[in-house]
Amino acid sequence: MDKIRIRGGRPIEGEIPISGAKNAALKVMAASLLTADTLRLSNLPHLADITTLANVLAQHGVEIHMNGAVGDGGHAGRVLELTAREITNTRAPYDLVRKMRASVLVLGPLVARAGHAEVSLPGGCAIGTRPVDLHLQGLSALGAEVELRDGYIHAHAPKGLHGAEVVFPLVSVGATENVLMAATLAKGETRIVNAAREPEVGDLAECLVKMGARIEGIGTDTLTIQGVERLGGAEHAITPDRIEAGTYAVAAAITGGEVDLIGARADHLRTTIEVLGRAGVAVVETERGLHVARANGRVKGVDIMTEPFPGFPTDLQAQFMALMSVAEGASMITETIFENRFMHVPEMCRMGANINVHGASAMVRGQTKLAGAEVMATDLRASVSLVLAALAAEGESIVNRVYHLDRGYEGLEAKLAACGAEIERIK
Ligand code: EPZ
Repeated sequence: MDKIRIRGGRPIEGEIPISGAKNAALKVMAASLLTADTLRLSNLPHLADITTLANVLAQHGVEIHMNGAVGDGGHAGRVLELTAREITNTRAPYDLVRKMRASVLVLGPLVARAGHAEVSLPGGCAIGTRPVDLHLQGLSALGAEVELRDGYIHAHAPKGLHGAEVVFPLVSVGATENVLMAATLAKGETRIVNAAREPEVGDLAECLVKMGARIEGIGTDTLTIQGVERLGGAEHAITPDRIEAGTYAVAAAITGGEVDLIGARADHLRTTIEVLGRAGVAVVETERGLHVARANGRVKGVDIMTEPFPGFPTDLQAQFMALMSVAEGASMITETIFENRFMHVPEMCRMGANINVHGASAMVRGQTKLAGAEVMATDLRASVSLVLAALAAEGESIVNRVYHLDRGYEGLEAKLAACGAEIERIK
């Protein structure tokens, strides 16, 4: 298994192009199941998760053509053409779904277009139990008969779906997206109340509108969808990855460097920018993206709590904790979205961090320095937080289980090395 070797202590300085957002790309790709026409997507990141979803879609009958790297949004992103002329198979098997939970996003489109679907239950994952009950409740409200049998979700709507009011008791990105996609082809009006407002949901909704869907309230917590008979093809460029941008902002801050994040959008990172500002890291909007620079001296300890958008993102919690581990003063970090998302803590402590977890909160007492160590993590954001800690640490670190990073960070070593990091992959 590949490892990453990092020799810490060098400031990260230069330009970093921000790739298309993984968590938008996956959903927009799933939307190709809703039409017989071609969906042409650009600015797709080159990531293992994208390949996994392409494999899921291919076995449902989607023809997929990759058109190489074509410039989009100022840097190279891949172009993918997806055509689901016919749905040849409505079953998403365990072997594919267990590799990536986002595969459950084929459920809504398949039921809406083909009238039925059998999708493996994704099961638990490293960051928590992550049920799909809200996805199922939403689709049931639209008239699907849903049954759980043999580890699979069986959903039927032989006469088609109908519009309904779907009120979510808690904010779920995936459930909002599944119901949104299904509602585009349902008869009549659907209202999704307490919808997720994450920019990735907005990106999906905007692509659906280009395909002919009628959606109002994009970017708000109430989405109103008028179902249409059919959707058509469209061209869409995936929105830049706000979590990748936030991660590299921390890389600059934790090493005392200065970076330009090309293509990053300030409106997707308002809370993060505000929190970094309080910690002593200036993030300024420029014509090309965001400029990040740490003010003189150490960053300061700041308390945060993760929340649905526009709150502080859970997908940046581990990276922010790495920054706080070398801050002046203490920081209380509270995770409210997932119940088991502190797996990076023991590994950071092995690098010299002082962190105590009490339930959903972690008390981080900033240290003047971290020391390199051999570490590993069990999910994507935890892994990258260890890379960040290693960039700031004295001496050499080895980060194991690099396949987590390959799921979500396109060209991580190349992007950091171009900004002066001493980082290499060991095969
Ligand atoms: C998406 O996951 C992202 N994944 C996650 O990013 C991200 O952390 C999360 O949203 C929150 O922003 C993708 O987009 C592929 P949720 P999702 O449904 O949709 C509970 C990364 O590192 N819940 O908003 O699965 C759930 O357990 C990943 O890139 C239910 O109880 O997240 C969680 O506590 C990790 N029942 C909360 O809601 C349900 O039916 C929010 O989950 C669905 C969710």
